[in-house]
Amino acid sequence: MSEFKRSVLSESESQKVVDALQRCLVDLIDLSLLLKQAHWCVVGSQFRAVHLQLDEILNDVRLGSDEIAERISTLGLPPDGRSKTIAEKSTLPAMDLAFTSAGNTVSQVADCLHQALRVLREGVNALGELDPVSQDLLIGITAGLEKHLWMVQSQEL
Ligand SMILES: [Fe+2]
Repeated sequence: MSEFKRSVLSESESQKVVDALQRCLVDLIDLSLLLKQAHWCVVGSQFRAVHLQLDEILNDVRLGSDEIAERISTLGLPPDGRSKTIAEKSTLPAMDLAFTSAGNTVSQVADCLHQALRVLREGVNALGELDPVSQDLLIGITAGLEKHLWMVQSQEL
């Protein structure tokens, strides 16, 4: 239930919008953790390029998750970015705890990005009727991460 007197949407609308945004928030926070893990554990001949590229993606993922969390707050509900919630609810594939070649790193990161983008697209579709402003936010984040997916998976070919 919203704490604010002047709500942007009705209570039932807010809850539905926040449910969709919250799913995206969870996966983007997990993605930010996995990108750092990959950044630290990549090894091999393409080390430097992949190591630096992962931090560029991370920057956009962190900006996106912050914008989603603040949109949830704007709608009057508390965003949930707690570690326990992320561990329980993330839909992203797990990453092995090991040093990993640049080739394998690229493939694992592409899989994680692909799954996060699937959840973002579901959010975009769910929000079309409910809240075009929240939908617009997700569309912008999705476009940026789809470009990153292109640049990551191009290295597999
Ligand atoms: Fe670093």
